[in-house]
Amino acid sequence: MTRIIFLGAPGAGKGTQAQTLAEHWKIPHISTGDILRSAIQEQTPLGVKAKSFVDSGQLVPSELVQDMVEERLQKADTSSGWILDGFPRTVDQAAFLDNLLKKKNLGGALVINLDVPDDVVVDRLLERGRKDDTEQVIRRRLEIYRSETTPLIDYYGERKQLVVINGNKSAEEVTSNLKDLTVSC
Ligand code: AP5
Repeated sequence: MTRIIFLGAPGAGKGTQAQTLAEHWKIPHISTGDILRSAIQEQTPLGVKAKSFVDSGQLVPSELVQDMVEERLQKADTSSGWILDGFPRTVDQAAFLDNLLKKKNLGGALVINLDVPDDVVVDRLLERGRKDDTEQVIRRRLEIYRSETTPLIDYYGERKQLVVINGNKSAEEVTSNLKDLTVSC
């Protein structure tokens, strides 16, 4: 069973690589950002609650995202594994996921931190131009990444689950390194 978590700054390439690896290993790519954006688009109760947070680059309250992830991980397509992109993003969310895996008698996931310098990610995101890719919102997302998400590097490092991959290469080179890395997980 393949379980992978992608960490990395906004624009580090989590979504790009998670999608490619998910197709390669035939397991679902679960992006909390994508699920939230669909919910916002469809104006579901979750989407209505999440909209102002996503638009301004702040984290959506953890209870909402945790319920959403728990529900998604119950679907039948996760029976051979999954790739999580954008979750967990805080130490509380990581502890929540650990408990969820324990309840299901599953071991931990392989955690891949895609390492890319700030100036490179800002350029990538400005070029992409999603609604939350304005310079001001990108800076906010980066600040929150530093304060809320980088503690997960220690969290997973201490648990010997973490691998750091240089994401500042062509997407194809990064994919090739990731395929080699995940072949036995
Ligand atoms: P989310 O959608 O997860 O956004 P993010 O973390 O800011 O990540 P991005 O999608 O911007 O970047 P990425 O690393 O996936 O890079 P990508 O592959 O797209 O979250 C959005 C919002 O949802 C959050 O701000 C928050 O409000 C909310 N949210 C989500 N999860 C949450 C949670 N757990 N708790 C609370 N709130 C949550 O690539 C970016 C660009 O770079 C693309 O154009 C791509 O083509 C290009 N690119 C990729 N790789 C390369 C490469 N190697 N070389 C050159 N270009 C590249």
